[in-house]
Amino acid sequence: MKAAYFMQHGGPEVLRYGDVRDPVPEAGQVLIDIHAASINGADWKVRAGKSAPITDFPYVLGRDFSGRVSALGRGVTEFRIGEPVFGVCDVGQEGAYAEKIAINAALVARKPESLSHAQCAALALIGLTALVAIEDTLKLSSGEKILIQGGAGGVGSFAIQLAKHVGARVITTASAANIAYVRELGADEVIDYNAQDFTQAVSGCDAVFDTVGGDVATRSFAVLRPGGRAAFIASGPAGLKSPRTDCVALRPNVARDRAHLERIVALVEAGAVGVPEITLYPLSEAAAAHALSEGRHLRGKLVFQIR
Ligand SMILES: NC(=O)c1ccc[n+]([C@@H]2O[C@H](COP(=O)([O-])OP(=O)(O)OC[C@H]3O[C@@H](n4cnc5c(N)ncnc54)[C@H](OP(=O)(O)O)[C@@H]3O)[C@@H](O)[C@H]2O)c1
Repeated sequence: MKAAYFMQHGGPEVLRYGDVRDPVPEAGQVLIDIHAASINGADWKVRAGKSAPITDFPYVLGRDFSGRVSALGRGVTEFRIGEPVFGVCDVGQEGAYAEKIAINAALVARKPESLSHAQCAALALIGLTALVAIEDTLKLSSGEKILIQGGAGGVGSFAIQLAKHVGARVITTASAANIAYVRELGADEVIDYNAQDFTQAVSGCDAVFDTVGGDVATRSFAVLRPGGRAAFIASGPAGLKSPRTDCVALRPNVARDRAHLERIVALVEAGAVGVPEITLYPLSEAAAAHALSEGRHLRGKLVFQIR
């Protein structure tokens, strides 16, 4: 099958397009002919060697996808050949920048007719991450005030809409070019982080959801009320310790399962959450797509159109 892969860590230019071995479904897995796969913030970090080093090459990136079931591993009874599905790879598995993937059937959900393959691929991991952070980890409730760092990104854009759906007051940070975009998503207040220090502009928050990391994550504790809680997804695997004894730092455990994928579909079909802006790339242009993602000022999602 064709795939985008790399043979050594490095910049976007190490990504090649060519033939790799077809996956074979094991017991409990489905084989999927992939139609679309998305690019996530973690992908270029793995390619660049900023995560655990890869030793088994060729290495195929890609964590979420949408496509059709093309073969069933032993014991799989809940899907039919040809059925449209979407999903997110289990923690530690990648391989969606390819024409096929073999994956545990429990990590796959039926693709609704109302959404295209590109839309499902775009929503899967960002939706799952936002759901686990906002609902399962922060347990955000109606009437609470939340600061979402990085509202124009994939995870941030889903999180804004979800927090509004929950009934929270949402403040978010974005660059000037994305202020109108995050307002359209429902943000009540937007801070242009290049023009204003968010620690001076915001206070008394019940919760913070940080998708930016680094210094932004560390300084985010300043906006919390006593008893406030903060969730971080971009600050390294160990997460952060709270520098304040009266606030908690939480690291969402983004487990992958069908139930969260079905919740994404339900939220979109109910009109609570919209699909992010999508820019399509062919898989053969993975290097260009990575360069754009790595720039860290992307609006919406980059998606590979594979079939
Ligand atoms: N732990 C997990 O399970 C998990 C899961 C998914 C993602 N992640 C991580 O979460 C992070 C976000 O992922 P993503 O897919 O949403 O990334 P993304 O789509 O690439 O988001 C980038 C966004 O960050 C914004 N941004 C950059 N610097 C900023 C700053 N200083 N303040 C506020 N906003 C800023 C940019 O908006 P402007 O152009 O407006 O600056 C851009 O829209 C990544 O580090 C990713 O690895 C972790």
